[in-house]
Amino acid sequence: MTPLGELLAERIRRYGPISFADFMRECLYHPVHGYYSKCESQRFVDYYTSVDVHPIFGRLLARKFAEMWEQLERPKEFVLVEAGAGVGRLAQHIFDFCEVRLPDFYNAVRYVAVERSASRREQAFARLERHARAGRLQMPAEIPFQIPAGCIFSNELIDALAVHRVVMSERGLQEILVGWEHGRFVDVVASVSTCALNEYFSTQGVRLPEDQHAEAGLEACDWITEVGRRIERGFVLTIDYGHRGAELFDERHMGGTLLAYRGHRVSEDFYASPGDQDLTAHVNFTALETWGQRSGLETVEFTSQTAFLLALGQSNEFADLYDHGQTEAEQVRARLQLKTLIHPEGMGERFQVLLQQKVAAEV
Ligand SMILES: C[S@@+](CC[C@H](N)C(=O)[O-])C[C@H]1O[C@@H](n2cnc3c(N)ncnc32)[C@H](O)[C@@H]1O
Repeated sequence: MTPLGELLAERIRRYGPISFADFMRECLYHPVHGYYSKCESQRFVDYYTSVDVHPIFGRLLARKFAEMWEQLERPKEFVLVEAGAGVGRLAQHIFDFCEVRLPDFYNAVRYVAVERSASRREQAFARLERHARAGRLQMPAEIPFQIPAGCIFSNELIDALAVHRVVMSERGLQEILVGWEHGRFVDVVASVSTCALNEYFSTQGVRLPEDQHAEAGLEACDWITEVGRRIERGFVLTIDYGHRGAELFDERHMGGTLLAYRGHRVSEDFYASPGDQDLTAHVNFTALETWGQRSGLETVEFTSQTAFLLALGQSNEFADLYDHGQTEAEQVRARLQLKTLIHPEGMGERFQVLLQQKVAAEV
């Protein structure tokens, strides 16, 4: 049992079963023992993201952000908020590219790298110190309250937000709580702990068939509504793996989509080693669209990572892929890495891109 496991077991022994969302939030974000609260020396052992494949991912995103800036008629300050910035790798790729290749845009950008984990913020600061000292970058734990014009974007943030677990029974929707019995964590099926769970499914017009297990990302719903409130004019760009609701809750997902990752091995043993393994659930993009509308976010585009990156790179035949002075062998390697990002059997079709827009309220 991990130290966090002991703490959670004690809490359940004293006060009774807890929601899976509470359990997952502690496993990932407990200030001391949470999986994401620890320094990132462990990275690549458990997972890697598109950011780690090749800087082309950040470079193409930079081009997209510059397009948005043009579309908003070049505001003097364009606030680029990266939510869940981790150790700042993507920020570095975007900054380095803008500085050299998109200087006008670079001069307008104020980059806000938002990261919940203090240790990751420290690691990001070390990486991005030059830009921070130049006053171009801030690294808070929360998204700024007011963003006059800009874009809030994230890569693999939403799949790391806590979810509730439910199952449909003959008596209606039930919740799967986390209990403690005979020295181990166990599923406890009980009445739902909040009516927000019923609302989550009914608002989307989803009626789960009997015996279907599913996750409800209430935290993601709150997150997108809040983000929509904070941005006055601009865009929200979300890159993650998942589906729209119709697919997420279809007969191929009767067991839900929650998974645990450790050492690149995937399992459904969610209760193993609390704090030492990653827990993720597929993103419900319909929920992001529906709850985004509550604060004025309208969907502009929903597409695969393949289509999104191809549209950005094809105009200059992916010239941004190469660095000055590279050998032929290095260029071949870069092309293979690009393939990983866009190939349908690589990350290209597994990851989806949702672009939402907030148009300024008329005065
Ligand atoms: C799967 S990692 C992805 C990191 C990075 N975006 C990448 O693509 O490599 C998710 C990151 O989001 C952070 N995070 C989770 N919830 C957050 C929140 N509400 N606000 C800011 N950061 C958050 C975690 O601490 C973690 O560093």
